[in-house]
Amino acid sequence: MSPATPHPAEIIAWYAEMGVSEALDETPHNHFAAPRPAPRPVLAPVPAAPLRHAAAATAPDEAAVSARTLAREARTLDELKAAMAGFEGCALKATAKNLVFADGNPAARVMLVGEAPGADEDRAGLPFVGRSGQLLDRMLAAIGLTRAEQVYIANLLPWRPPGNRTPTPQEVAICLPFIQRQIELVDPAILVCVGRPSSMALLDVKSIMAARGRWLEYDNGTRTIPALPILHPAYLLRSPLDKRLAWRDLRTLKAAIDAL
Ligand code: URA
Repeated sequence: MSPATPHPAEIIAWYAEMGVSEALDETPHNHFAAPRPAPRPVLAPVPAAPLRHAAAATAPDEAAVSARTLAREARTLDELKAAMAGFEGCALKATAKNLVFADGNPAARVMLVGEAPGADEDRAGLPFVGRSGQLLDRMLAAIGLTRAEQVYIANLLPWRPPGNRTPTPQEVAICLPFIQRQIELVDPAILVCVGRPSSMALLDVKSIMAARGRWLEYDNGTRTIPALPILHPAYLLRSPLDKRLAWRDLRTLKAAIDAL
């Protein structure tokens, strides 16, 4: 390798920073070596072809209205999942591998809402199965909760944003009716918003650091549900010193569950 050639680890780190987290093919292709197509003759402008993805063609406002209608019409969680699987109004669907709907027990008294699937969740079609999900399971276990029995877990967005970028306000607005309906159908006794984006979107929280561990109310249209914002496990993996804050918040949650 010449001194000017970057080390493979540097190239991989650069890819990760740019949001490239998936290999598209088994073998690399040198596109610079491939024969280049002959320049196309300049022709008169051709009318634009229709967009291939309905997702890209739907205006955000229209998409949010259509999501609201579909969500309202869903009478069960299965119907809601089917409606979301058929929805073409969010461009994230085009780049995601799977719809990540939920995990856990739909009859649980505690519902957790995270941000959006990452690469592991996208592959598995289940929320919180990667490193931060494993930490979340340990956090729940510390207060005697298991994913399979005592909690129901979903995300603000059911499709992975490419490269795990933060969802845009438009993506959140389009998908919001789905998670709102999911909360309505599960009808938990306690809602836990895991991290900033879900606390902002569902509880109108401005600062997760200021709001974490404080009881708020989530209005589901027919009643209010006690809601607790907590720090996201992905943040805790990056800032382990703040696990002591998370522990305090988990004890707050446990006390409320015990009082139910
Ligand atoms: N982070 C989230 O907010 N949700 C997941 O499902 C995984 C990671």
